[in-house]
Amino acid sequence: MTQDTGPDDGGDPERGGEVRPVTGDAPQVLSGAEAPAVRHLVSIDDVSIEEMHALFRLADRFASDPRAFADTCPGFISASLFYEPSTRTRLSFESAMLRLGGGVLTAAEMTSSSVVKGESLADTIRVVGGGYADAIVLRHPSEGAARLAARYSPVPVINAGDGSLEHPTQTLCDLYNLHVERGKIEGLDVVLAGDLKYSRTVHSFAYALARFGANIVCVPQAGLELPDYVVERLHEEFQVEPMRADARRLGNLASNSDAVYLTPQKPHQLSLFTDARGWEVQSVDAVYMTRPQTERHSGSELTDTTYLRLEKRAMAAESLRDAVVMHPLPRRDEISDEVDADPRSIYFKQAARGVPIRMAILSWLLGRVPLESAGEPHGQQASYGVPMGPNPCPNPSCISRTETRHAEPRFTILEREPLRVACAYCTRELSHAVIGCSRSRIFHAPEAGTIRLILPEHLVFFEDEEAALGAGFRPAASLAGH
Ligand code: NCD
Repeated sequence: MTQDTGPDDGGDPERGGEVRPVTGDAPQVLSGAEAPAVRHLVSIDDVSIEEMHALFRLADRFASDPRAFADTCPGFISASLFYEPSTRTRLSFESAMLRLGGGVLTAAEMTSSSVVKGESLADTIRVVGGGYADAIVLRHPSEGAARLAARYSPVPVINAGDGSLEHPTQTLCDLYNLHVERGKIEGLDVVLAGDLKYSRTVHSFAYALARFGANIVCVPQAGLELPDYVVERLHEEFQVEPMRADARRLGNLASNSDAVYLTPQKPHQLSLFTDARGWEVQSVDAVYMTRPQTERHSGSELTDTTYLRLEKRAMAAESLRDAVVMHPLPRRDEISDEVDADPRSIYFKQAARGVPIRMAILSWLLGRVPLESAGEPHGQQASYGVPMGPNPCPNPSCISRTETRHAEPRFTILEREPLRVACAYCTRELSHAVIGCSRSRIFHAPEAGTIRLILPEHLVFFEDEEAALGAGFRPAASLAGH
C-alpha cells in the first residue's frame, strides 16, 4: 500500500448492524465500529510476515470445518471483476465469501459490461465500490491495474492477478501450502520452473520466499528466464544474491535450462559451491511448475519447441525425494498425468486450500476478524504525481498507458542519491536522461547532487535535453557549457 490513498480515499469501513457471535471454534468477529481503516491487497508486499502467519492460523481454523463460519460476514458482498479468464481464483473467492455467509456479484466476462462502451477501470471501480459491494476482487491484463483501482476504491481491492506483475492471493495460497506441508518456509529450497518471465504467480511467490528467507532455484524454460527487474527487486529489497547453479541433481527437469540459485542468506556457505559450475543444487523441498503464459508472449520467446515437463522419471531424482510438487494450475503438458498419483504431488490439494486462505483474507480485509499479530507490511511507500511532461513509465503493459485519464503518471522513490524512481503502478524503474524542477524550470544531469534539494512533487523527467528545452526548461549551470 502506498501512503497515497487516492482521490476517493476515506471510504467508511464501518458497516452497521448487529454482529451475532459465531459458533464453534470461531475467530473473534469485530463489530463495525471497531473495524480498521480500509486496507487493500495489491502486492504481496502489502502483508507483513506476522500477518501471513496469522492468516495461516485463521485458514487452519476455517479449513477444520468450512461450513461452521457462515456467521462471519453475513450481509457482506464481494464483487468479482474479471477482465481475464479464471477458474480457481474466482470460484475459490466466491466459495470463500459464500462460506463466510456473504454474497457475491460476478462480472466474469467483462466484455459484457460497460467496458465495451468505453468505461474506464477507475469509473467501474467507483461504481462497484460505491455501494454495490464491500470488497472488489479484480483480475486485469494491465500491470498496476489493482494499484490504480485501490486509489479509486472506498472498499478493499484484492488483486487477483494484474498482467504479469503479481498475484498475491495465489502466493498466500502457495505459502500456506508450504506451511502446511513443510511446517515452515524459512530456509526451504524451492524450485521455480517453467515460464518465469510472464508468470505473475512466480513473481509474487519469489518476493515472498525471499522475504521469508527461503532459497529459490530458478529452472526457466529457455527464453523465459526471471526478468531482470524481478531479480533487481529481489536484490535491492531482500539482499538476494543470484548465482549460477549446477542443477544436474534435478535430473531430467533441468536438462534443457540454465538454472540460477537465488539466496537471501548471508554469508553463503562457501563449502557448497562446486567451482565453476556454481551452487550445487542438492535436495529441494518443493518444485513449483508453471505453464507457458502464451497469452502474454510476443511470439519470439520460445526458442525451444519443447517446454519443460515433469515426468515420472524426473521424480525419481534423489534431489526430489522429499519435494512436494506444486502448480498454481491450470496445467497444460508441463506435469504429466502419471505424476498425479505420486504422493508428493499436492497441486489439487493446493487448489483446495485456496478456499480457507481466501476466507481468511476476506474476513480480515472486511474488518470482521482481527489478525492476532500485525507487524509492518513490507512495502509502505509514498507516491508522487509527475507535475508535467509525458508519462515516464517505459512499460507498454502498464495500466498508465491505457487508462490515461485516471492513471496520471506517479512514481515512488527507490533511492534519493543518485535519484532512482519507479512507476507507482507497475513498479518498473523509470529511466530518464535529464531531471527538472517544475518550480525553477531548471534541468539537471541525473547524477547532479542538487537534485536532492528538489521536492519530490516538483520532479519532472525528460528523455533528453532537447525534450527539456522544448518544454521551456533551462539547463543548470553545470550543464550549460555542454
Ligand atoms: C494463475 C494465473 O492466473 O496467473 N492461475 C491461477 O490463478 N491459479 C496461473 C496461470 O494462469 O498459469
